[in-house]
Amino acid sequence: MSNDKKFLIKGEKKLSGEVFISGSKNAALPIMAASLLTKEKVVLKNIPTLLTDIKIMISLLEKLGKEIIVNKNTITIQQEKNKLNYIATYDIVQKMRASIVVLGPLLARIKKAVISYPGGCSFGLRPINLHLEGLKKLGTEIEFTHGDIQAKTKQLTGKKINLMGEFGSSVLATDNVLMAACLAKGRTEIVGAAKEPETQDLINFLNHIGAKIHYNESGNLIIDGVESLSGGQYTVIDDRIEAFSFVIFSAISGKEVKINFQNIDHIEDILKHCISIGIDIKILKNSLIVKGKNPNSYKTFKIVTQPYPGFPTDMQPLYLTLATLIPETCFIHEKIYPSRFNHVPELIRMGADITIENDLAIIQGVPKLDGTSVAASDLRSGAALIAAALAAEGETVINETYHIERGYESVIKKLQSLHADVKEIID
Ligand code: EPU
Repeated sequence: MSNDKKFLIKGEKKLSGEVFISGSKNAALPIMAASLLTKEKVVLKNIPTLLTDIKIMISLLEKLGKEIIVNKNTITIQQEKNKLNYIATYDIVQKMRASIVVLGPLLARIKKAVISYPGGCSFGLRPINLHLEGLKKLGTEIEFTHGDIQAKTKQLTGKKINLMGEFGSSVLATDNVLMAACLAKGRTEIVGAAKEPETQDLINFLNHIGAKIHYNESGNLIIDGVESLSGGQYTVIDDRIEAFSFVIFSAISGKEVKINFQNIDHIEDILKHCISIGIDIKILKNSLIVKGKNPNSYKTFKIVTQPYPGFPTDMQPLYLTLATLIPETCFIHEKIYPSRFNHVPELIRMGADITIENDLAIIQGVPKLDGTSVAASDLRSGAALIAAALAAEGETVINETYHIERGYESVIKKLQSLHADVKEIID
């Protein structure tokens, strides 16, 4: 998937103006997969259709037999005319691990699925044991042959299932199991279910097309199986991680930026943390106004990444980048993906002072970062490098930008509209 596109960023330009946050990739992907649960037409709005990961999910659904029309940020998944296929091959799954999220819906709809076993990713092993254990509990037989997961069931039946893993709840395991449970016989109760806004959005969509899902008073997810689901139209939530990214871009190098974002409640606690370290954020109904300052004036902090509503791992690389310019020492404990520190060696090349001790990053602030050539090695580390480049003295060239295009729609255009000195260059 590599390309030769690079981002050239001249730092120290003050951002100003307004930006509009796109629909959430991580909400859209499982919701698109959930369309496999119904043969009826599904119309999804606010989909970030320019993202590579969304394009991959569209081609996966097409391979599985869906017909899809894309029109700007709306995708229409047509009423099925033919039987669904059940094989997700290596060439697709290897491009996007989240492809695993078609497993639950395929089992529920056509009782079998063959999915290439997803490999690790650049920040760790990323196991899928919880997905498979949960589906087995519902009555799935699973075998591994030649790198494929072969799954089949005679009848999915509701059960009480514990999906709490070593590092807390799992977003996509919860999504997979709850989608399978939608069409299972009887009631499923998921203990340790994820509560991320993206999973809640999937639940809202499923309930909208006829599923019966709710959290009980203990926080367990209750799914009462139904015979079939209908079609419908649904608008996906805005991307809280993109919104936070623009908060950091603005805090690190902004003058005054308005961030239009419909789901402020999804990042309210994080914004409170940002305000507590001195970031100037005004919270309005559907927008945020961030006034940038010299990052050397922000206060030191300690954070631990945790499942929602804790500090999200996807925001850690950006906060770590901000910390490189905060005088004194900041500490970041990465408790979800203990080796998610790909951005650190690149930030050190830009002059940052960071020590990694297992899952702990110790960041000693420096007065400034220096522009140089760096490479993104995953989506969020790429966003961190953009933040660093915006603040740095001189020019930064970010290589391997295809990682960034998996999850940040039109990021260069959005930054240009904020008067950043950024452009794409092709070698
Ligand atoms: N885990 C297990 N077993 C499993 C599944 C997960 O031990 O079967 C562990 C993981 O190793 C990790 C923890 O559970 O330590 C949480 O992982 P989770 O399953 O929640 O991750 P995911 O569902 O595969 C989604 C997002 C990630 C995001 C994580 C955590 C999507 C498509 N991906 O992944 O997003 O980091 O939740 O919030 O929704 C990104 O957008 O850049 C990204 C990586």
